Amino acid sequence: MHTPIILDCDPGTDDALAIFLALASPELDVLAITVAGGNVGLEHTLPNALALTALAGSDVPVYGGADHPLLGAFVSETRVHGEDGLGGVVLPPGGKAQPEHAVDAIRRILRTSPEPVTLVGIGPATNLGLALTTEPALAANVREIVLMTGAWGEGNMTPAAEFNAISDPEALAIVLACGRPVVLATLETTAQALCTPAILAGWRALGAGQCLKAACDIQGTVPLNRRLAHAGAALHDPCAIAWIVDPCLFTTRDVSVVMDLGPGPSRGRTVIDRWGRTGAPANAKILETLDATGFFALLGERFSRLP
Ligand code: RIB
Ligand code: CA
Repeated sequence: MHTPIILDCDPGTDDALAIFLALASPELDVLAITVAGGNVGLEHTLPNALALTALAGSDVPVYGGADHPLLGAFVSETRVHGEDGLGGVVLPPGGKAQPEHAVDAIRRILRTSPEPVTLVGIGPATNLGLALTTEPALAANVREIVLMTGAWGEGNMTPAAEFNAISDPEALAIVLACGRPVVLATLETTAQALCTPAILAGWRALGAGQCLKAACDIQGTVPLNRRLAHAGAALHDPCAIAWIVDPCLFTTRDVSVVMDLGPGPSRGRTVIDRWGRTGAPANAKILETLDATGFFALLGERFSRLP
């Protein structure tokens, strides 16, 4: 199956590996890469996306988008991604971003695509939310929305909220309410994608390509998660891409998800009702379990296909 996607991101170390996975996967037709601030601000995330696509020898168009959420300001996460967003790994500079704003590009593609498009969000949902709220009818040409966001348990930015979700909770609420199928790779999904030095060593043994090396170098800068007893570094964003490429790697559960948009300590929480306690109808599918061995084998095999 050849799935057309728009990949919205905030590269970001794990975004970098997700971009490589998407570009290396023939199951996908990456129509556009749209970029938001978020991890380290648009002044870094946009050139990072351009450098990553160039390193992969891809001519997929890259569009700059929102550098602040619908309300307030983005909070960078340099502790994980470094000041530059790629852990200090310097790549050759890429080309130029498209002159069109990311939100306009998303709407144009949805308006003109001859087949439904899958929207993949692995950063703050601002660009996707703006596109869908300014032209709601375009949701009819959305096949599915796949997001790395949220958690049913504790967050990683606050005790209540995951980074992408709290970065723009209002935008995420818009996307969840757009009426199209939504799939969430939550922190519980990605906690099963624990990348370790041994996995990186196994990848390095697969080849000598510049992208494989860059993926290992970049991921090797990511601190092991204290939240997960330093057993590894949760590889968040590639889980969203892997769902589309090989859904058999996952088990799923249909749930209702409600955003906490309050000003209080649980702002940005994705209130995920796994047990149907509220009686609310399911509005999303969560990726509940992951075949981690198959996931890391897929990533290594795909990275080794790249230049
Ligand atoms: O919580 C993890 C998410 O926040 C990932 O998308 C990572 O890149 C950061 O943006
Ligand atoms: Ca991200």
